[in-house]
Amino acid sequence: MTRSLVIAVDGPAASGKGTIAARLAVHYGLPYLDTGLLYRAVGRGVIAARGSLEDAGLAEEVARDLNVTAVTPTDELTGRGAGEAASRVAGHPGVRAALLELQRAFAAQPGGAVLDGRDSGTVIAPDARAKLFVTATPEVRARRRGRQLAGRGEAIAFEEMLEDIQRRDARDAGRGAAPMVQASDAVLLDTTDMDIEAAFDAARRIVEAACVRTGA
Ligand code: C5P
Repeated sequence: MTRSLVIAVDGPAASGKGTIAARLAVHYGLPYLDTGLLYRAVGRGVIAARGSLEDAGLAEEVARDLNVTAVTPTDELTGRGAGEAASRVAGHPGVRAALLELQRAFAAQPGGAVLDGRDSGTVIAPDARAKLFVTATPEVRARRRGRQLAGRGEAIAFEEMLEDIQRRDARDAGRGAAPMVQASDAVLLDTTDMDIEAAFDAARRIVEAACVRTGA
C-alpha cells in the first residue's frame, strides 16, 4: 500500500505558496485546502454581522458556524479587505481552535492532501511528509499582489501594497496563537527570482526528496 502523502505549504502573503500548493495538488492527484480562505470567510462573516473584528467571541461563533463547503474563492473573499480582516480574526485563539479540527480532518484523508496556510506544517499537520516554507522579499510580494489585484480592477499604489504586506507579516509572525514561523523540518523555498514554473519545479523536487527520505 502506498503511504499517504501530506504536503504542508506555509509562508507569507503573495510568496507564491497558493499557486505552488494548488499545482502540487494537481500533480500528485491530492485534495487541496486553502486554509487562508477559511480565515477570510470568518473575517467577512464578522463584517457581514456588523461586528468588530476584535470581538473574539463573535469571531469564534462565526468560525464554528462556518459552512466549509460553501467557502469558495470569490473575488470578495480573495480581495484585499478580506485578507486584512482574516489576519485580524486569525489572532483569536478560539477562532483557530474552531477551524483546527476540520483542517486536521482534511489532512487525515486516506491518500493524503495538500494544505496551504501559515501554520499547516507547524500546527495542523506537524507530521506532514513534505513541508515547504515559501517566501520572497516583501517588495517582490507587494509587486505580485499589486499585479494580481490590478488585473481585476483593484489598482493599488506599490507603496501602499508594500505597507499592507509588511503589516500583515508583522501581525501574523507576532501573534501569540500559532504565529507564522518556519517549521524546523520545513524546506525554505525563496521564490524572489523565480517565475511560477521554476518555483513549481523546485517545489516538486523538494516533495520528491522528502518522499525518498521518508520511504515512499
Ligand atoms: O493566505 P491568505 O492571505 O489567504 O491568509 C489570510 C490571513 O489568514 C493571513 O494573513 C493569516 O493571518 C490568516 N491565516 C492564518 N493561518 C492559516 C491561514 C491564514 O492565520 N493557516
